[in-house]
Amino acid sequence: MAISERRLRRELAREPFFGDEGERVDVFPELSSTMDVMRERAESGAPEGTVVVSERQLRGRGRRGRTWSSPVGGAWLSLLLRPEEERRPVSSLSVLSAVGTARALHEAYGVPITVKWPNDLLINRRKLGGILIDLASSGESLTRAIVGVGINVNNEPPERIPSISLSEALGRPVELEACVASILRGIAHWYGTFLTEGFDVVRGEWERLSAVDVGEEIWVVRQDERYEARVRGLSKLGELLVERDGRTESLVAEEVTLRFSGP
Ligand code: BTN
Repeated sequence: MAISERRLRRELAREPFFGDEGERVDVFPELSSTMDVMRERAESGAPEGTVVVSERQLRGRGRRGRTWSSPVGGAWLSLLLRPEEERRPVSSLSVLSAVGTARALHEAYGVPITVKWPNDLLINRRKLGGILIDLASSGESLTRAIVGVGINVNNEPPERIPSISLSEALGRPVELEACVASILRGIAHWYGTFLTEGFDVVRGEWERLSAVDVGEEIWVVRQDERYEARVRGLSKLGELLVERDGRTESLVAEEVTLRFSGP
């Protein structure tokens, strides 16, 4: 179930975002985390559209310091973006990457995929994968964002939370090169839309794909705090607006997790 770099580059050869012949895309059999390798590359000046894929990760990272199980068979990748300052809020990049991935996988495989703010991709409310954004810390001269995407494809997903893999949803194995290429094309497309048309178009698509409707109640988990709130939509920066005890709050992607049911 190895991922062929040649084949993946060929799949992306018509997308100038990834280089003339997809040469900005590298595949490794094993890495600690694609995020670490990408960070080194970003710091040594790698261009936007650089991609690091690994067949498996030994120390895959999830959001909020969690570990991310990354055995062979999944799609584990990081993509480098260099948006201008005003286009860099973490929530909007997270939301556009989730929309790009969900739309691409739906179009390629016909399975309806929903998004749960800020970064979860779901099939029937079971987690198919997630997105992790790493922004350059302020003061660093290079401005960049690393988008980490993890999708359970042919691997057994972890049992910690209700999860699903793409192959389980389809009832057949999935070719990883085609799957990774779809994800990358999807994100590049929605990133382009975001840069040229602004966040509103992305936000509209996110609302269409959302697993939680406006007006629905959801549990917000922030550090030791858990509370129920009513979803009011997305802000212009991609923050989730919720109503709690009659007041509207905006939630920032790095700080919270949402749950469908209470403690
Ligand atoms: C989450 O839902 O918590 C986000 C998971 C992101 C996992 C991906 S796999 C590729 C990249 N490398 C990592 O170490 N994490 C991200």
